[in-house]
Amino acid sequence: MDKFIIKGGRRLTGEVVISGAKNAAVAILPAVILSDEPCTIENVPSISDVNISIRILKEMGATVEYLGNNTYRIDPTTIDKCCVPYETARKMRASYYFLGALLGKFKKARVSMPGGCPLGDRPIDQHLKAFTALGAEYNLSQGMVDLKADKLEGNQIFFDVVTVGATMNAMLAAVRAEGLTVIENAAKEPHIVDLANFLSAMGANIIGAGTDVIKIKGVKYLHGTTYSVIPDQIEAGTFMVAVAATKGDVLIKNVIPKHLESITKKLEKIGVNIQQFDDSIRVWVDGPLVKTNVKTAPHPGFPTDMQSQIATLLTLAEGTSIITENIWEQRFRYVDELRRMGADITVNGKVALIEGKGKLMGAPVKACDLRAGAALIIAGLAASGVTEIEDIFHIERGYDCMEGKLRALGADIEKVSVPDTQSKSDKENGREAV
Ligand code: EPU
Repeated sequence: MDKFIIKGGRRLTGEVVISGAKNAAVAILPAVILSDEPCTIENVPSISDVNISIRILKEMGATVEYLGNNTYRIDPTTIDKCCVPYETARKMRASYYFLGALLGKFKKARVSMPGGCPLGDRPIDQHLKAFTALGAEYNLSQGMVDLKADKLEGNQIFFDVVTVGATMNAMLAAVRAEGLTVIENAAKEPHIVDLANFLSAMGANIIGAGTDVIKIKGVKYLHGTTYSVIPDQIEAGTFMVAVAATKGDVLIKNVIPKHLESITKKLEKIGVNIQQFDDSIRVWVDGPLVKTNVKTAPHPGFPTDMQSQIATLLTLAEGTSIITENIWEQRFRYVDELRRMGADITVNGKVALIEGKGKLMGAPVKACDLRAGAALIIAGLAASGVTEIEDIFHIERGYDCMEGKLRALGADIEKVSVPDTQSKSDKENGREAV
């Protein structure tokens, strides 16, 4: 088991380059299955969720070649299996994108139900609603989802909740279906648009991605393409908060400032200075941090994936802040860990009350999910003394070389290995799936 040891209290300064977006890459890699020719995908982040996606593609028979420089060439024409077994699927929530991609290409799919998850109930009813609307039948048994269709036909799909995963899966299943599919109440996240752009680059006919109505006219053939994944909005936001928490001054490069608007606006309210350029932003703090309230919401609202990081910053601000989590019911599990570092946070259902104390103290803590882990890193960087973070495999699922990037900005953070007993039992409990 690896852990991070952080000696806090150092300002972050300098420049950092943001990697490709996890939540775009984990959909685009399975989407290559839909192509009739090889594709080259650039700006793929080096994270364990991507490694799992690549492993699944290889296990299905795809020919995958790493070309260096975060670029993969994937030939899906050699795929001869339509199954993603439990052992690989349980490691990553996003394995459900193989359902839509396999169904769209081969009219059948067999994928293990995504495994145990630490964010609360994570149903897939809306994914199944989309697949059945297009003509597929499903069967759930022995922890596997089986999908089968004689043919896929375009249809109207209205989602009861705004869901990123089901919107992407509906797009994957619809691009090769016969006729027109209209997805209503669609999610609008940047990675939805990125997936649509990738599919369009292969010859798909999609309009409206990024709005709540997406129209897809099915095509018979998708050709190969070279595509570059967008920069990671949440990695960028995490660095913005880390800079603010250490009262630093950093130029964050390879970002799309428009994707960061809701984060930028909140940080400015807290007293953080932000200057936007074409594809970079400068973040710095030269005054006090002040309280604010945050409510998470689907894009373009404030992202749930930034909730724990901004909460950590608000423990360092003056005054009482209120955080309302509207997406995941168990996204305050990091609060107990922050309390160990001196934070004063009270949680009542989906609302957390933060009494800003202006400081945190180092302590041994445990990452309970990916973004909780990011929050603890931020806390450790800002705290006085030493913070040890266990279970960092959660962090490595979604952040590309986090400690290396932080070290280059002046942080005192190192990764050390300790005996593996605890992490093994965590993995056996499926705790890595987010
Ligand atoms: N929902 C349903 N039924 C469904 C699907 C979703 O009721 O069939 C509900 C969920 O329970 C939740 C809400 O809809 O309350 C939104 O869920 P969504 O489907 O949007 O989430 P997801 O696709 O499973 C993705 C990201 C998450 C991120 C959420 C929200 C990936 C691989 N994961 O999850 O990212 O929090 O969207 O933006 O894209 C992370 O990166 O740390 C992470 C957890």
